[in-house]
Amino acid sequence: MGDTLCRGGRDTGGMLPYRQPLPGRRRVLGSSTGTLFRVTTWGESHGPSVGAVVDGCPPRLALTEEEIQAQLDRRRPGQSRLTTQRREKDRVRILSGLFEGRTLGTPILLLVENEDAKAGAYEPFRDLYRPSHADYTVEAKYGIRDWRGGGRASARETVGRVAAGAIAEKLLAAALGVEIVGWVARVADIEAVVDPVRVRRDVVDADPTRCPDPEAAKRIAERIDAIRREGDSLGGVVELAVRGLPPGLGQPVFEKLDAALAGAMMGLPAAKGVEIGSGFEGTTWTGSRHNDPFVPAGGRIRTASNHSGGIQGGISNGEPLRVRVGFKPTATIRKEQATVDRAGNARSLEATGRHDPCVLPRAVPIVEAMAALVLADHWLRQLALSVAADRIGGPAR
Ligand SMILES: Cc1cc2nc3c(=O)[nH]c(=O)nc-3n(C[C@H](O)[C@H](O)[C@H](O)COP(=O)(O)O)c2cc1C
Repeated sequence: MGDTLCRGGRDTGGMLPYRQPLPGRRRVLGSSTGTLFRVTTWGESHGPSVGAVVDGCPPRLALTEEEIQAQLDRRRPGQSRLTTQRREKDRVRILSGLFEGRTLGTPILLLVENEDAKAGAYEPFRDLYRPSHADYTVEAKYGIRDWRGGGRASARETVGRVAAGAIAEKLLAAALGVEIVGWVARVADIEAVVDPVRVRRDVVDADPTRCPDPEAAKRIAERIDAIRREGDSLGGVVELAVRGLPPGLGQPVFEKLDAALAGAMMGLPAAKGVEIGSGFEGTTWTGSRHNDPFVPAGGRIRTASNHSGGIQGGISNGEPLRVRVGFKPTATIRKEQATVDRAGNARSLEATGRHDPCVLPRAVPIVEAMAALVLADHWLRQLALSVAADRIGGPAR
């Protein structure tokens, strides 16, 4: 296929390795995801626009720009003083793939213009590497970097994911009645108490922290506001519940549903870890406490507990999916930090510009979108498998 992968070679004399093609290796298409429900995002933080192409969405799905806009509005910057003050309307336009309010089955192009890009704020840092951001590694890889607002590594890229995710979510809701709800479960050491079976999106959105536990939300808001005034940042955990998913989605070996979800979530900016079901805490329990007993339930098979988080052997079991995603404290802070410049000289840096003091409230719709993309893809794959098996005609055991 003539596919190539870069590798470092001889030194250019500067700090960056010289890149040359490595023949015969698979190309890593880092901006695309999915097998049947396929999404490519494009755009840089301070370029003219960002967006996505969704290819593989089935035809005849009723869809409006407003439905996509509703999710983008939840991701939008400037929602409260707890988030970055970049002012973007994030108006989405569907440029293809839709006719008379329904999908055509052809590629859907979603475009959002960047209206409040202020590249000048990044001018003083164009030759400096912001600690724990993507500046150094992007330059080490590509030998070139759009230094305006983090370029492609900016969370602005997630506009495309959220827009595409809204379509995937609509598909799952229309076909299966699936309901996806994310919420802020923890900021720093403030942990919320939330019932994952009953929590609703409107309740999550009722508070600017997106934490549906009012007592924890109040403390989280105060903590984020205090850290913002200090010029520092905080991290935390977004939790996700997916209800109404049938059993059978996923694969038993390399493409387990939990692996796909974890990979999708770890592909988010600032993501540092993923837990499924009981997660790391469950590893401290005994098997007798951890196992989920099967129970008959009105003609269905269910489990009495859900420590598996809705996935067993890499395949959904029909119980609610439960995923936790840990996000680090925002890298860019208004405090003096040690760094180096592109020539390798020791320098110090105190960031300016508009930044989220805590990415958690805005990360909720992004986590929901990634789950929707993975699940829509795996649902279509399972559908293809079961339709093919039915056509073959052999009875299920
Ligand atoms: C919703 C959201 C908003 C973010 N906002 C910022 C920000 O304002 N400033 C910043 O430095 N990083 C922000 N980030 C994280 C960076 O994009 C990310 O840390 C950076 O690209 C380095 O990648 P890594 O943390 O995955 O290693 C945000 C992440 C998310 C999910």
